[in-house]
Amino acid sequence: NMSIEEKKERIRQIKQQLGNRLFITGHHYQRDEVIEFADATGDSLQLAQLSKANREAEYIVFCGVHFMAETADMLTEDHQHVILPDLKAGCSMADMADIDQTEHAWIELQKVYGDTILPLTYVNSTAAIKAFCGRNGGATVTSSNAKAMVQWAFTQKQRLLFLPDQHLGRNTAYELGIPLKEMAIWDPIARELICEGPIEDVKVILWKGHCSVHEKFTVAQIDQLRNTSPKTNIIVHPECTFDVVQAADLNGSTHYIIETIKNAPAGTSWAVGTEMNLVNRLAQQFPDKDVFSLNSTMCPCLTMNRIDLDHLLWSLEEIVEGRLHYPITVDKQTTDEGNLALKRMLERV
Ligand code: 13P
Ligand code: SF4
Repeated sequence: NMSIEEKKERIRQIKQQLGNRLFITGHHYQRDEVIEFADATGDSLQLAQLSKANREAEYIVFCGVHFMAETADMLTEDHQHVILPDLKAGCSMADMADIDQTEHAWIELQKVYGDTILPLTYVNSTAAIKAFCGRNGGATVTSSNAKAMVQWAFTQKQRLLFLPDQHLGRNTAYELGIPLKEMAIWDPIARELICEGPIEDVKVILWKGHCSVHEKFTVAQIDQLRNTSPKTNIIVHPECTFDVVQAADLNGSTHYIIETIKNAPAGTSWAVGTEMNLVNRLAQQFPDKDVFSLNSTMCPCLTMNRIDLDHLLWSLEEIVEGRLHYPITVDKQTTDEGNLALKRMLERV
């Protein structure tokens, strides 16, 4: 029964005690009380790059979700331990593509398209899916580099399978000039390919996954705002649906959203379609601008929010006591194959 201030003081003490042996990362969607103690904050690409660059920290306490901690474990050295303060901090989108479903889809798609497909996976996926992409010549992408990576994929093969977020895949391909009728959806539950146009014209096969946080932004919310507040700029994350991205003024990764609002003139108004903690923090950081969520019910990512002051403090106390909760370790073969996919991305961005 420590007070919040006592807990914060204890975290500061432990950070001082462990010095460079400890590195705390915080994704932009984390709570303020966690971000306060992060040695580095960033979007998923930045956190992947920072984990790779850090060669000295023995303990990387990853304040984000499970797939990010797995990525950090794959990119760091054997003597470095990656810790996720709450094992329940998963990602429902990453869970929408499991490896058995993916291997099955691959076999079925090859029956139709032969060896003409390259797999790309959004980093929001399990280590096993990254390994699948790695061993099949493909790569990972993040929302910051999806366009460049899709362009690269087409230098390798005629078509691509994009896992697991249909919206990021569709939005990115459309911006690169690929019409919707040349995109198909692979439904892993029905185990079938759904396409509107001729099957042979398909260039992009989208996995039927989505982010339940970003799907809560709607065109109706945008229409209402256009009526009530026509000067407000609408900026959304590309995990939002195609219709929402088309109706918005701007779309991009969390990093892009932050930079755009930071550089916007004072007095401008911004409705933001992404996770609540980030939107609230932007509103606090830039009080000279009017920044608010596009959805008035706010849209928290419940799994990101599982990591709080108590979980952070607990995982740090465990480190001090010589125990690790929860270590995230990816086996060697998955790491080696997953790193092929990550490397193909990291050397291009
Ligand atoms: P970025 O950090 O790449 O913008 O992705 C957002 C997200 O949903 C992370 O889970
Ligand atoms: Fe996953 Fe969506 Fe949460 Fe990101 S915001 S961690 S994609 S559920």
